[in-house]
Amino acid sequence: MVPFSVSVFLCSLLLIVDAIKNPIVSGWNPDPSILRVGNEYFIATSSFEYFPGVPIYRSTDLANWELYSHALATPEHAQLYGVPTGAGVWAPSLSFINGRFYLASMTRWTYDPTARVWPRVYFSSSKDLITWSTQFGKIYLNLMAPNNNIDRIWGIYQCEISLVTGNCIGEYISLWNGTLPHNSSARDEGPKMFYKDSYYYLLIAEGGTDDLHRATIARSSSPQGPWTPAPNNPILFNGAYGFDNLTVQSTGHATFVETPEGDWYAAFLARRKINGTSPLGAETLLTTLTWSDGWPTLNDGKPILLSESFGSVPDQHYPPPPFKDTFSTSELDPSWYQLRIPYTQNYETGKPRSSNRHHGKGNSETSGLRFSPNVFSLSDRDTPAAILRKQKSLNMTFSATLLPASGSLGYLQSIGISAYLSEFQHQDTGIRGCVNQTGMCFYSTLLMNGTSVTNQIPLNSTTIPDNITLIIRAEAPKYTFGFKIGTTPIVWMAEIESSWLAFAPIGFFVFEGASFALFASGNGNPWPSDAPVVGFKEVNEVYFDENIPDHDVWT
Ligand SMILES: *[C@@H]1O[C@H](CO)[C@@H](O)[C@H](O)[C@H]1NC(C)=O
Ligand SMILES: *[C@@H]1O[C@H](CO)[C@@H](O)[C@H](O)[C@H]1NC(C)=O
Ligand SMILES: *[C@@H]1O[C@H](CO)[C@@H](O)[C@H](O)[C@H]1NC(C)=O
Ligand SMILES: *[C@@H]1O[C@H](CO)[C@@H](O)[C@H](O)[C@H]1NC(C)=O
Ligand SMILES: *[C@@H]1O[C@H](CO)[C@@H](O)[C@H](O)[C@H]1NC(C)=O
Ligand SMILES: *[C@@H]1O[C@H](CO)[C@@H](O)[C@H](O)[C@H]1NC(C)=O
Ligand SMILES: *[C@@H]1O[C@H](CO)[C@@H](O)[C@H](O)[C@H]1NC(C)=O
Ligand SMILES: *[C@@H]1O[C@H](CO)[C@@H](O)[C@H](O)[C@H]1NC(C)=O
Ligand SMILES: *[C@@H]1O[C@H](CO)[C@@H](O)[C@H](O)[C@H]1NC(C)=O
Repeated sequence: MVPFSVSVFLCSLLLIVDAIKNPIVSGWNPDPSILRVGNEYFIATSSFEYFPGVPIYRSTDLANWELYSHALATPEHAQLYGVPTGAGVWAPSLSFINGRFYLASMTRWTYDPTARVWPRVYFSSSKDLITWSTQFGKIYLNLMAPNNNIDRIWGIYQCEISLVTGNCIGEYISLWNGTLPHNSSARDEGPKMFYKDSYYYLLIAEGGTDDLHRATIARSSSPQGPWTPAPNNPILFNGAYGFDNLTVQSTGHATFVETPEGDWYAAFLARRKINGTSPLGAETLLTTLTWSDGWPTLNDGKPILLSESFGSVPDQHYPPPPFKDTFSTSELDPSWYQLRIPYTQNYETGKPRSSNRHHGKGNSETSGLRFSPNVFSLSDRDTPAAILRKQKSLNMTFSATLLPASGSLGYLQSIGISAYLSEFQHQDTGIRGCVNQTGMCFYSTLLMNGTSVTNQIPLNSTTIPDNITLIIRAEAPKYTFGFKIGTTPIVWMAEIESSWLAFAPIGFFVFEGASFALFASGNGNPWPSDAPVVGFKEVNEVYFDENIPDHDVWT
């Protein structure tokens, strides 16, 4: 037995050794824009087709981050009707000027060049990060834009804008074309400008979002240039080391922050590559930064290794404590999202309202999440009755216990859980009317690049009994799907390699990572008026040690 004092000693030793551990915000959270105000740090990240948009995380120690608010919390702020995977809200910039937070971001509705629907850039401000308006101070808008609409060579452009009308009122100028050969695949993006010690700095991302992604920087004595690139560009680029076997890949899209003590850090996006693919998408990582001759060096100029931690603040809670949601109040936990715009209320939480009470015998007084399913499913570019949480760990279990229901589901009605990446890539398990036979079945449907494989097991009941739990075990690099009834052993129904949740289908982008969804759907038909009320009474997430190596070498 270890004496008490020794284990305390070991704990405090660990606190010092493992300070800030990457990723600092796990689960897909690309394009981090970091900011310090007093003793608080904030990070805003991209949200794509998820609603509400632009999560803002808060920390007081750079190691432990909590979801604080969302900048785009109403449909008017996040117009996402019909957007495909990868489109939607991109690359926020968060700043704080004279007591107000400012957020600039953009929405992309489609990337189909035939449609010729172009992105819109917008900005908003807030006193408290909770209520957002459109009140501004003097501002230059720097953006990634094409040189013209004929040859469409992207670069970093700038315009002074009217804060009243939002119009460009100054000269529209090309600021910088980055460090790569300047052709239409160069993709300089995500410009962030800041002022330090008599220089303006222009920090950008380049190289596309895949393995060649990187951060580069230039400086000038004027916000309009001319710009001098840093002698040590790219300042962040794991690919520069020739090691495509590193687990941390696609390092880039950085923003800088200074602590009250004068230490500097860079927050950036990176993928954790797991046996070749990244089911969690781009997460938020942090590294150290030093200045010399007015130029920044990140992580002492070395590659970012997953195992390296740094700083001298309290350790992260790792693995994080379990998450449990019993949907006991009428507000959903803010870590749940819907897809696109929830223009109708398609769920309720807490105790059921009276209008639903004549259905679900046996669940009429139970708190929980009750869906009002519509015709849409997770395969549609619309808003199915579904709520989603980002997958936070490469070694975790997501499980959801159904509310009992008094009646049967027909062939087209389903309720279940999903490991979701896009409308093309979601792996589902749940209960539905059986395929090719009568009655209800447990089912799993796996989607692989346009093919679909369904397994089913008869439920042998004309109602959905109490205490059925649906389970997804995510342990890199695979997902396994099962169910249990009460306390009986888990019945595993299907398994799929996580690479099927980590690629862009032809003609589409996927910048998100995996989420776990709860859903109910009429799968193309309205939910019948005599079909039972369905929902969930509890969700549990349990996280384990990930033990992901520094090199993406799996056997
Ligand atoms: C960037 O490239 C565009 C298109 O080739 C060119 O018109 C522009 O002058 C360049 N900008 C700078 C700052 O070099
Ligand atoms: C852009 O330049 C790079 C590097 O020279 C080259 O590999 C790539 O093919 C070029 N792309 C286009 C569209 O010309
Ligand atoms: C990773 O790749 C580098 C460069 O090819 C090689 O030197 C190194 O041995 C590799 N490391 C592992 C763990 O495979
Ligand atoms: C890694 O991927 C390869 C195929 O690319 C596969 O054969 C192998 O089984 C995978 N390894 C693990 C541990 O899943
Ligand atoms: C349903 O029947 C069709 C036609 O026989 C068959 O191809 C399919 O696999 C069956 N589906 C299930 C889930 O049994
Ligand atoms: C998906 O199918 C398309 C078309 O057949 C093919 O080009 C692509 O390589 C496939 N992708 C994967 C990941 O299998
Ligand atoms: C329902 O009964 C069939 C036939 O006995 C059996 O194979 C199946 O496992 C049963 N389903 C469940 C959920 O136990
Ligand atoms: C379901 O589980 C809860 C909690 O364990 C228990 O109180 C309840 O009696 C169970 N219901 C049934 C029908 O077994
Ligand atoms: C995942 O967690 C389980 C349960 O703690 C553990 O047995 C397993 O080794 C972990 N897997 C990895 C890759 O660390």
